[in-house]
Amino acid sequence: MSTIPEMPAREVPDRVRQGSHSPIQSLDDWRRSWMAARDNPDGFWLRESQARLAWQTPPTQGLRGDFHTIADSQVSWFADGTLNVTESCLDQHLATRGDKVAILWEGDEPGVTRALTYRELYVEVCRTAAALRSLGVQKGERVIIYMGMVPEAAIAMLACARIGAVHSVVFGGFSAEALRDRIRDCAAEVIITQDEGLRGGRVIPLKATCDDACVGERHVRKVLVYQHTSAPVDWLPERDVWWHEALADVAVSELPAVPCVAEDPLFVLYTSGSTGRPKGLVHTCAGYLTWASYTHEVVFDLREDDVYACMADVGWITGHTYIVYGPLCNGATTLMFESTPLYPDAGRYWDIVARHGVTVFYTAPTAIRALAAQGDGFVTDYDRSSLRVLGTVGEPINPEAWEWYYDVVGEGRCNIVDTWWQTETGGIAITPIAPATPTKPGSATFAMPAIVPVIVNDEAQPVVGPGEGRLCLAQPWPGMARTVWGDHERYVSTYFSTFPGFYFTGDGCRRDAEGYHFITGRVDDVLNVSGHRMGTAEFEAVLISVEAIAEAGVVGFPHPIKGQGVYAYVVLQPGVHDETRLLAAANAACRNQIGAHARIDVVQVVPGLPKTRSGKVMRRILRKIAEGAPEQLGDLSTLADPGVVVAIIAGSRR
Ligand code: WT7
Repeated sequence: MSTIPEMPAREVPDRVRQGSHSPIQSLDDWRRSWMAARDNPDGFWLRESQARLAWQTPPTQGLRGDFHTIADSQVSWFADGTLNVTESCLDQHLATRGDKVAILWEGDEPGVTRALTYRELYVEVCRTAAALRSLGVQKGERVIIYMGMVPEAAIAMLACARIGAVHSVVFGGFSAEALRDRIRDCAAEVIITQDEGLRGGRVIPLKATCDDACVGERHVRKVLVYQHTSAPVDWLPERDVWWHEALADVAVSELPAVPCVAEDPLFVLYTSGSTGRPKGLVHTCAGYLTWASYTHEVVFDLREDDVYACMADVGWITGHTYIVYGPLCNGATTLMFESTPLYPDAGRYWDIVARHGVTVFYTAPTAIRALAAQGDGFVTDYDRSSLRVLGTVGEPINPEAWEWYYDVVGEGRCNIVDTWWQTETGGIAITPIAPATPTKPGSATFAMPAIVPVIVNDEAQPVVGPGEGRLCLAQPWPGMARTVWGDHERYVSTYFSTFPGFYFTGDGCRRDAEGYHFITGRVDDVLNVSGHRMGTAEFEAVLISVEAIAEAGVVGFPHPIKGQGVYAYVVLQPGVHDETRLLAAANAACRNQIGAHARIDVVQVVPGLPKTRSGKVMRRILRKIAEGAPEQLGDLSTLADPGVVVAIIAGSRR
């Protein structure tokens, strides 16, 4: 991606500018807001948070703390304010938007839909919150949510928030083992799941997987089960509770919201890093919601009658911020989609756009590439005239996919917002602003107010003007994750020790002469496969649990649809020679220990891994060979056994 030539920016199409009421409608507006937020963060964000959130006690304090003192104390925003986020997402809309559709749901089968108005959603959240309370859930307690894309997943999140419980949503594709790790890490006693999920015509046995995860986990007191497909499920009468029965029992339609302080945790969300097990990132109530609301409104130029559709899953941060919290805080109609872009065929997204009149559409580059590969006919068969803004998120978008999205899907009438951010940032950080920013294919363009990007070069110096290096952020922003659940030291060492005083993102970035940012992808040992973030260390831990395998080194390689594929180099145990079922065995282990989305594409048996004389695996060498560029191995003088590299190149599967 670093070879993208300097290119002229594309002006914002007229249709995108017309009718905007956004505070940021031009690059001048953006520059003014950006400077105001940088120079007076307290003033800027106190104003935004007070305008957007329904406070019980409005805050008088803005930002406390900085990146230099973060080892000893957390950054805080609005620390003396009190609120309950559900009053911002629900109660505050009842008078003005009670009958407006809050959640528009499209099920797995085309045309199977539900619509919940703000008033209906409010009642459902209150009833579910009362049910959770009757199960004994206390303020501050963690609740795991392991569900598919049904409105009840959002209701469950908000119900936890209503009583001040901390939710941790686990993506429904994760295996029982991965779910168990998360249940243990945050010491959850209550889990919310459903009988089965549906996705692309297939059944996902969520309750059964949850049961497997809970074997031997005595601290799990209650499992609340939403009935979606009505399939028969195993039942533990002392532990399991049907959602509909629990709600019927509480017989309320309102429940006062529990007061929280601004910095109380709202949720924990697990994400992969370059080492060790996934970390539970902690987002707190007021800063997160302010950031979710601000970025959602400004980036997409949200309008009152928008039908806004984000195709992510609530198991990831995109679903938290841009399906649930941002849109609901902004009183928007947010679409939840249970299925996949290819079911029943590659026209599904555009069928949804046409039937629901979607105006803002947000998806991932991997989906765009998969759909572009199926031909334009699936797009042009449907009326897309309602569309105004097209978003992308999750991984770098290659210019060819960007052009296809712009020309074929948007017919040149829509602006594309390529939004760069992370689980850690809580919301969009570097992005075009729909009515304001002329775009360049493959560029996330400029930073949002509060985001101060710094590109650090190989000499650990900030790059001034155009250049390339590692992307850091220099100032705290309201939506940043505050800590790692139960391990603040790990938070500090992961994000703030590489470049002291800066938050290090783990991404590479190039800035052109006009200040446009091009994210080049991860520079650490994190993989991004179809927008799914996974650690190479997690794959390696799975592989060495496979009986035939003694050692493993896993790296990514460029993949035309998935962005990255997974390449595993393995050393077999002494005496093992049979390689025939190795890939299948490796993938069965990945499926069991991580989930179905964790799949290895290539396994290569090697005589040894390339190590330094001190025994460290030289991952750079593995990466270059997997990329098909063995001529770029660089300095090999520290290698313990050069013969190993010769053998790996000779046996390379690329
Ligand atoms: C990583 C974060 C952000 C929500 C979904 C992913 C990559 C994300 C972009 C983009 C290039 C991107 C980065 C980042 N990424 N958006 N627009 N352009 N890369 O959240 O699972 O925490 O992953 O996704 O590498 O570090 P996540």
